[in-house]
Amino acid sequence: KYIKLEDYKVFDYEIPEIFMDFVINKNAVNVTTKLKLVKKNKNTKNLILDGTDILIKKLFIDDSLIEKQYYKQQKNNLKIENIKKDIFLLKIEGIIKPKENTSLLGMYESNGIITTQCEAEGFRRISFHADRPDILSKYTVRIEADKNDYPVLLSNGNVLKENNLTNNRHEIIWEDPYPKPSYLFALVAGKLNCVKDNFITKSNKKVKINIYVEYGDEKYVQHAISSLKKSMKWDEDKYNLEYDLSLFNIVAIRHFNMGAMENKSLNIFNSKLILANSETTTDEELERIEGVIAHEYFHNWTGNRVTCRDWFQLSLKEGLTVFRDQQFTADVHNSEIKRLDDAKFLRRNQFREDSGPTSHPVMPEKYQEIDNFYTTTIYEKGSEIIRMLNKLVKDENFYKGFSNYISTYDGKAATIDQFVDKILEHNKEIDPKKFKIWYKQNGTPKVKFKRIWDQTDEKLTIEASQSNPIKKNLYNDLPLIIPINLAIFCDENKTIEKTVVLKTKKQEFVFRNIRSHLQIPLVTYFREFSSPVEWESDTTFEEKFLILRYEKDFFTLSNTVKVFYKKIILCRLDEKPDHKIENKFISTLISFIKNRDINLSLLSELLSIPTFAEIESEMENLDPLKIYKTIDELNHLFGTKLKEELYFKLQEIETSLDKVWPEGKNERKLIETIWKLLLHSDDEEIKSKIINYVDSNSMTLAKAALNSFSRINCPERKIISNIFFNKWKNNSVVLDSWFSFNASIEIDEKTNSIEKLFENTYFDSKSPNTLRAILNTFVTRNSTFHAIDGSGYKYIAKKIIDFDKLNPIVISRFIKVFSRYNYYSEPYKSNMLETIKQIKKNKLSTNTKEVLDAIIE
Ligand code: ARG
Ligand code: ZN
Repeated sequence: KYIKLEDYKVFDYEIPEIFMDFVINKNAVNVTTKLKLVKKNKNTKNLILDGTDILIKKLFIDDSLIEKQYYKQQKNNLKIENIKKDIFLLKIEGIIKPKENTSLLGMYESNGIITTQCEAEGFRRISFHADRPDILSKYTVRIEADKNDYPVLLSNGNVLKENNLTNNRHEIIWEDPYPKPSYLFALVAGKLNCVKDNFITKSNKKVKINIYVEYGDEKYVQHAISSLKKSMKWDEDKYNLEYDLSLFNIVAIRHFNMGAMENKSLNIFNSKLILANSETTTDEELERIEGVIAHEYFHNWTGNRVTCRDWFQLSLKEGLTVFRDQQFTADVHNSEIKRLDDAKFLRRNQFREDSGPTSHPVMPEKYQEIDNFYTTTIYEKGSEIIRMLNKLVKDENFYKGFSNYISTYDGKAATIDQFVDKILEHNKEIDPKKFKIWYKQNGTPKVKFKRIWDQTDEKLTIEASQSNPIKKNLYNDLPLIIPINLAIFCDENKTIEKTVVLKTKKQEFVFRNIRSHLQIPLVTYFREFSSPVEWESDTTFEEKFLILRYEKDFFTLSNTVKVFYKKIILCRLDEKPDHKIENKFISTLISFIKNRDINLSLLSELLSIPTFAEIESEMENLDPLKIYKTIDELNHLFGTKLKEELYFKLQEIETSLDKVWPEGKNERKLIETIWKLLLHSDDEEIKSKIINYVDSNSMTLAKAALNSFSRINCPERKIISNIFFNKWKNNSVVLDSWFSFNASIEIDEKTNSIEKLFENTYFDSKSPNTLRAILNTFVTRNSTFHAIDGSGYKYIAKKIIDFDKLNPIVISRFIKVFSRYNYYSEPYKSNMLETIKQIKKNKLSTNTKEVLDAIIE
C-alpha cells in the first residue's frame, strides 16, 4: 500500500497537450477531456489513468469510439487495453458532481461558487489523467455556464475567446501557454466581484491584477493587492524573477482546506487570507496574509516554472518557497523579529512533530496519502535546510546557484538533489553528498558543547558533538553539516562573533588570543538559530543571567528567557519552587522593561509566560491539569510582581496604539502581554480599561482584549464576549475568533459549552476555518479537554469520527493532537490510548487511518 521513492518510474506516455471542456449544469458538470498522448515506452499496449468518482459516458481514440470491452473503470482508475497507436488523442466524456463533494478536493462548491483544489491528487476527481507532477502539459480550457448563476468563469493563463450563447448561457476559452502539471490546474465559476489593479514589471510589461471576492467583500482587498505588488517587486529585486504573463488572478474562497494554492496565474485563497483591513484583522494576521500572498506568488517560479518530479520532492518547492517568503517578510519588516518568530514556530511545531510518531525526513521514504505530508517538516524544516545552504556558501554563490537552478530546470520537473547540486556546484568546502543527509534524517539532531579554558595560553577550546535521538532510521547515524553561529563574550564590552561548521560527530574548535576577565569566557551558540537543532552546553544558570545582560541577538535572548521560564515551571511542578532564581529572574525582567531602547516586540516576547501548548511539546510524563494550574499561578505571580513597571510602560506606549499598521504593531503586541499579566494579578482597575477596547477599531486591540480574559473567570468575560459577537456575527472571518475564544473558556458543565458552539446558528459545518477554530483551541487552550475522567477525549473522538466523513484533510491533521499520549502521565495516557483505539474501530478515511496507524503502531 505504500508508495516509495525507489519505485519511481517514468510514465509510459507524455501528454504534451490537454483540451478540456466544462459544461456547468444545475446538478452536475460535464467534463470532456482530450489528452494528446505520445507513447514513450514503445513496449506498452496499455494505458492506466487515475480517476475517482467520475461517471464515464463515452471514450474515443482519435474520434473512434472505444467499445466497452476494451476499457475497464475501477474505483480509482481507468485502464484501456490494446492500444496500437504511438500518438493519439484520447477523448473522455465524463460527469462529476461538485455539489456533493464535501472533501474540498477536486471540484467542489463553496457558497454557490464552483472552485477546484488539485494539489496534490485532486485533478483525478475532475478528469482522468496520469495525475503526477512530472507530466507537463499545455492546457486549453473551455467553460460554459448560465450567465446569471456563473457570470465569472476563470481558469489558468490568458483568455482566448468569450462568447454569448443561447439560453442565457456563455462560454469562455482559456489558454495557458506554459506547460504545467495537473496539480496546478484551476477553475472557478460563480458570482464574484472583481477588484482591479495592475503592476508594471521591471521590463515594463503591464500585468493586470484581478482579485475576485464575494459581493460585499470588495472593501477588504486593498491589503492583499498591496501585498501582491510588494511581492512582485521584491522577487524582481532579490531574485531577478519577473512575472511571466500579463494577467494574475486571485480568488478568495470561504471553504478552503489550507491557506492557499498557487495554481498558475489563478491563485485560490482561503478568504481569511485575503479579506483584511486593520478594523477586521490583527497585525499578526496582516503580516501573515502578506507572507502567504508572497508565498503563493513566489511559487510562480519555485514550483510552477520549475516543478517537482514526484511528491517526495515536495520540499523542493515548499521548503524553498517558505525560505523565500521568510526572506521577504524579514526584508519588509524587522529581520531579527522575523527570525525569532520563525525559530519559535519551528521549535514549537516541527520539533513536536519530529519527536512524535509522525516524524519523517524532509524527503519522506514512503507514504500512503501524500496529503498527509504537507507538514511543518516539509515546509519549515525544508526552509531551514536552505537557510543553512545559503549560510554555508554565502550570498553570492547562493544567488548564482539559484539562477542556474532556475535556468537549467525551467519548464521541467526537478529533484531536491538537483537543486542542492546547483547551489553547491562551485564550492569546495561542502560535500553535497554529506549535506544532503539533512533531507534523509528525521528527528531533531542534538549538539553538545563543552568549553575548555586555558587562561595562561589565552586559548578557548569548544568541544562539539552531534547525535540524533531517533535510532530507527539508518541515515540518522551519519553526521550532518551544521553551521553554528557563536558569540564569545570576554567581558561586557568585548564580543567575538564567529560561524563554525560542525561536520563530524565530534569536533574541536580552538580560539586563540582570547583575553577575558571572566572565570571562563561565556559562549552563546546557534545565534539567529543558525541550524534547526537542539543543544546542550555547560553554561550555568549564573552565566545565563549574564547572557541576558550581554547578548544582543534577539533569538538568543528569547531562548535564554525561555530556559528560565521552563526551569521555574519545572521546579513548581515538582513542588519545589526555586525562589532565588524566580526573584533574580523577575529583577532581570524589570530591567528589560525599564530599558527604553528595547524593541517592544522583543520585550513582549520576553514577558510572555509559556502557554500550555509550548510546554506540552517539550515535556515528558506530563500532568496537563497541573501544568495549566502552574502557568496560571505564574501569570498571577509575575503580573503582581511586575505591576508597577508594567503600568509605567503601559502609559508610555498608550499614545502609539492607534497608529496604522505596520506602525504601532510593536506597541500593540506588548499591550496584549501587559494586559494579560495585569488581569492575572487580580487588578480590578485594568478590567474596565480593557473592556473598552473590545469594540476598538483596531482588531489587534479588540482581540487582545477578548483573549486576555480567556482564563479569567469573571462576569465581565461574558459581557465582552457578547459585545464582540454582536458586532461581528455577520462577518464569518472575524467571527471565527469568537468561536475560538469561546472554545477556550472553561465552564463547569464541561464539554456542553463547546457543543453549544456547534449548535450556534452562525456555525457552518462546511467551513474548515470554523471547525479548526473550535477544535484546535479547545484542545490546546482549554484544560477541560484533559478532564480526568476522560470525557474531554471522548467528546473530541466523536467529533473526529463525524467530521472525518465530511473532510478527511482537516481531521487527519487534527488527530495528531493525540500523537503524544506516551508523554502524558496516568490516567491521561491510558485515557488517550483508549480513545484512540475507540476511534480506530470506526470506518475512517485513508488519510486519518494512516496517521492513526503511525500513532499506535
Ligand atoms: N501548495 C500549497 C501551498 O503551500 C498548499 C496545498 C496543500 N494542499 C493539500 N492538499 N495538501 O502554498
Ligand atoms: Zn507552498
